[in-house]
Amino acid sequence: MRIVLGITGGIAAYKAPQLVRLLVKAGHEVQCAATDHALQFVTRVSLETVSGRPLYNDLFSPANNRSTEHISLKDWGDALVVAPATANFIGKLANGIADDALSTLALAFCGKPIMICPAMNTQMWFAPPMQRNMGYLRSLPLLSVVGPEGGELACGTTGDGRMSEPETIAKAVEALFANPAMPLTGQRVLVTAGPTYERIDSVRFVGNYSSGNMGFALARSLAAHGAEVDLVSGPTHLDIDHPAVHLTRVESAREMYDVATALYPACQAAILSAAVADYRPEHTADHKLKKQSTDGLTLHMVQNPDILASLGASKRKGQTLIGFALETDNEEANASAKLQRKNLDYIVLNSLRDKGAGFGVDTNKVTIMGRDGSRLDSPLMSKQQVADLIVEHCLIHQQ
Ligand code: C5P
Repeated sequence: MRIVLGITGGIAAYKAPQLVRLLVKAGHEVQCAATDHALQFVTRVSLETVSGRPLYNDLFSPANNRSTEHISLKDWGDALVVAPATANFIGKLANGIADDALSTLALAFCGKPIMICPAMNTQMWFAPPMQRNMGYLRSLPLLSVVGPEGGELACGTTGDGRMSEPETIAKAVEALFANPAMPLTGQRVLVTAGPTYERIDSVRFVGNYSSGNMGFALARSLAAHGAEVDLVSGPTHLDIDHPAVHLTRVESAREMYDVATALYPACQAAILSAAVADYRPEHTADHKLKKQSTDGLTLHMVQNPDILASLGASKRKGQTLIGFALETDNEEANASAKLQRKNLDYIVLNSLRDKGAGFGVDTNKVTIMGRDGSRLDSPLMSKQQVADLIVEHCLIHQQ
């Protein structure tokens, strides 16, 4: 595995080279990222020698491949381990402050496993602001904490605040990789996807251009974060092969309604991305309709059940309901009205103004509006990236 080892400015930083050696010996690649204060306690040369890689210390160093090195390192690493983690570093991470190379990298790392190994004086450790910050960090699904432990401290006192020994940290890293924290483990999520086909006769239907890409991408993202997924899809050529995704294929809106309403009570969340037909032909012929007159053909359509509104009406406390909206005018006002009317927690507004967004393409650009008035605008991204953003914003960060 690839580990980014963050080192901040506490006396325990002198143990960092030993931790690097243990991690390298266990077969990992290690990239060190140290703060300026850490380099008062341990040298660049030691860290570069034991890790075999140039140290990351300066956001704007000409030695960086690019000025976005913090993002490249986030993409490179499987986990960020910060040992020692000082009160200053913990305070910055807990409050989203990114004012140097390591704190910027750490913020970018949220969404991947982060392990922090606090080390400080006992009184600092038990100071109320510190404990408040730790309380918040411990609530983050992908963040784990190792130590601190009791014992003799560098300031001459004895108490809690010693960084765990490198051997203990190295073992915790192995456990982290053996058992990666999955933020949606234990959650069941319903997803609807694709179009619906409303039969006219035995060979014709009323349908739409939905590909199902968005819903399948959501199912993949949810499963990758540990959820069990009930995916209910209208007709599409897509397939999905993941043990945690249970796919039910349906054809019409009424079939989708029956399956989705039966599955919803056992789910903690539902994301309804299907392009469900609002109307269906009142009568379906069981044979192919013959061409009859030159006057044309009139189909009388009747309304389909609104699956999303129906789930909204039966939503219980603790369930999260997310719908999509595709609007051509007064987009935000209409989406926000739909959010209220259908009792949703979030609505994802597809932009129709942007080329590359919406139906039948692999990219999308969305605005996620929350019941609490929150709003998040995405850039044009792949549908998989949009799916990850929706899952992280609406389900993971809300836990
Ligand atoms: O009201 P409108 O059709 O614009 O709402 C779109 C949202 O409602 C989408 O999330 C879609 O999946 C869902 N929907 C539904 N059942 C319908 C119509 C729409 O679940 N019959």
